[in-house]
Amino acid sequence: MAAGIDDIAIYIPQLYVEASDFAKARGLDPEKLERGLGIGQMAIVDTNQDPACLASNACLNVMQKNKLSPDEIGRLYVATESAFDESKAMNSYVIGMLEQVYGEGTFGHCGGIECKFACVSGSYALYDNTNWIRAGEAEGKYALVVVSDIAKYDLGSSGEVTQGAGAIAMLLNDNPRLLAFDPKVTSTSIKNEYDFYRPFGKETPIVHGQYSNLLYLIQVKNALIDYKRKVINTGLIKLKEGETILDHVDYLNMHLPYSNMGKKALAYLVRHEWRDLPRWKKIIEKIGMDEPTPKDPRGTIESVLADAEFMAKDHQFTKLFTNTEEYVELYESKLSSSLIGSKMIGNLYTASLYLGFRSSLEFEYQKGVNLNGKRVGFCSYGSGASAMIFSGIIQPEYEQVVKDMNLEAEIGPRTKLSLEEYEDLHENKRSPENNIRSANKEFILVDVNTSTESRGERQYTFVS
Ligand code: COA
Repeated sequence: MAAGIDDIAIYIPQLYVEASDFAKARGLDPEKLERGLGIGQMAIVDTNQDPACLASNACLNVMQKNKLSPDEIGRLYVATESAFDESKAMNSYVIGMLEQVYGEGTFGHCGGIECKFACVSGSYALYDNTNWIRAGEAEGKYALVVVSDIAKYDLGSSGEVTQGAGAIAMLLNDNPRLLAFDPKVTSTSIKNEYDFYRPFGKETPIVHGQYSNLLYLIQVKNALIDYKRKVINTGLIKLKEGETILDHVDYLNMHLPYSNMGKKALAYLVRHEWRDLPRWKKIIEKIGMDEPTPKDPRGTIESVLADAEFMAKDHQFTKLFTNTEEYVELYESKLSSSLIGSKMIGNLYTASLYLGFRSSLEFEYQKGVNLNGKRVGFCSYGSGASAMIFSGIIQPEYEQVVKDMNLEAEIGPRTKLSLEEYEDLHENKRSPENNIRSANKEFILVDVNTSTESRGERQYTFVS
């Protein structure tokens, strides 16, 4: 049975910080943010927004757009790494908010949980719900999977430039207009790691930035090896002599903590895939240097990062490789459109991969490309650490969904924050009712109870 994404909707907070203002305030070269990391603007939440509000707004958008009633939704999953309760699942808050619009008890039949595994959990949620549909359990109902996060790092930390916030709701069914997932090829890798984590009670994560970058690459490569084995064994893709699996994937979406990480990750995977192919000889000739190897090729991530000579050479090699016409052609045709949303909005943790997918659809369509039948690959990564690779085919009816996509219009009018306003919001110095922007047709947080017996209870309202 086919199963996949029928429609997709976003909700992005309208407050933002401009990367160049941010660079000036932190004494950074604006070029590092704009060209080095690929950051333009970072969406920031107002005092009266939390990840549950963002998720509910995205769900409401997708339901209203498709004129769906709650009895057509069989499951509602939220994937997030911005949880604010250790026990009560975020989807229950979302149900509560949606019932303010649709009526109390209208989602009573609907199952679901909150999923956690850093930025990869949304992909696990999609996979589980796809299989719920494939198993014939959906009785014609949709599954609603929403990925929602507030990417927040310590003031002055190296991660602070890679913040953002937003939610993406994906509607799944057995007759999707947008994308049908390839069956039996979803592949995963997993390892107990401490590249990025957020212990109980801490609002911002503990991050080993360069370690997490390299771990992301390795875990995604490991999952890709398994994906290759599966697509070949299932006969989904038949490789001819001298071909790589990437030749058969028209678009690639990478996990995007910042947009240039997508470019870096693609280069790493392509090097891995092309290294043993006849085409590599020509590339090496063009680059004019051999591909470097670490002093201890079987060493740890720490030993590779500490190998300064290798790191410098590898950096040089990557730069030369990413400037070859072969890589540029692949990057432009398979990845570049997916990075536009990330540059405009910033890091969305669980939602960043899907913002990339959403962005790719809009900007490839605008180029006039016929997307029907194109294969889309997804490279999902979550710190801690796990990667997931899967793919799907764009469906003949995709145009019904994609033709009206307009990220700028869907975000709505944005309000630029001064650095002072941003820092006050970041440090929670403003009370919830001291919001900056007036809410309009959306859910907002109005109260978090502080009494002993009901501490943490949240009240939301829909501002019509
Ligand atoms: N002009 C242009 N580019 C510049 C520059 C300048 N003046 N200064 C630096 N750059 C480039 C660097 O060359 C580098 O590009 P490259 O990766 O292509 O080599 C890029 O900007 C980033 O510089 P770097 O020195 O690596 O940045 P950093 O040490 O400040 O850290 C992160 C970057 C991503 C590690 C950091 O922001 C972080 O910890 N983020 C959170 C964790 C994360 O996102 N992990 C990703 C995996 S999930």
